[in-house]
Amino acid sequence: MLKVKTKRTRTRATSTPVPTVALPGFRVQALPPDLEGDVRELYRICHPKWPEPPGPHFFAYPTVVAIADYPHNVVGYAQYAMNLDDAGHISVWLKDTCVAPEARGHGVARALMLERLRIGFEMGAVAALGMTQPENVAMLALLRSLHFDEREHFKRAYPAGEDGIFFGLSLATYRKGV
Ligand SMILES: CC(C)(COP(=O)(O)OP(=O)(O)OC[C@H]1O[C@@H](n2cnc3c(N)ncnc32)[C@H](O)[C@@H]1OP(=O)(O)O)[C@@H](O)C(=O)NCCC(=O)NCCS
Repeated sequence: MLKVKTKRTRTRATSTPVPTVALPGFRVQALPPDLEGDVRELYRICHPKWPEPPGPHFFAYPTVVAIADYPHNVVGYAQYAMNLDDAGHISVWLKDTCVAPEARGHGVARALMLERLRIGFEMGAVAALGMTQPENVAMLALLRSLHFDEREHFKRAYPAGEDGIFFGLSLATYRKGV
């Protein structure tokens, strides 16, 4: 069993008491409305230089959360959107991913990714598309291990001016449980 003993050191007001992150296990599910404040707090921790998202943000883009079994708290989230192109093809756009610093390195981002691929696959998407920063070793490792193709580099692709690498994965060949 994995155990992360570090205490969360959050400085901003939260909608729930600041918990200890323990990670013997976690589950992934759609964001329940009462945990939106926790997700916002994680967003600020992961992206301190990005602007505060507008009110509907975490529901306008569907959000999946990883919840530690005990104590009950959000340890990560990821977002996505279903897109339809001019040719009538559906793709799943993989938006933001954020894992609490104390919970990193335990497969939370991987589980959040697999859940979004599962949803895209079940919705008939032909491709999954996403972007990450060139220096983001963990996200690059995850995308590459799932056989995403590196497609294009963009300058200043992110709100704080970070560059981005655009990746794609054909879901025609995707098998559940990769
Ligand atoms: C990027 C981030 C989401 C990764 O979350 P995580 O839960 O630690 O990732 P996981 O434990 O699922 O590991 C994912 C992969 O990265 C690898 N990895 C994890 N930490 C790593 C590190 N420090 N160095 C190198 N590789 C690492 C893992 O081995 C795994 O590889 P695999 O899929 O081949 O097994 C997390 O670091 C984070 O929230 N960062 C800040 C926000 C951010 O950068 N978001 C992504 C923007 S696109």
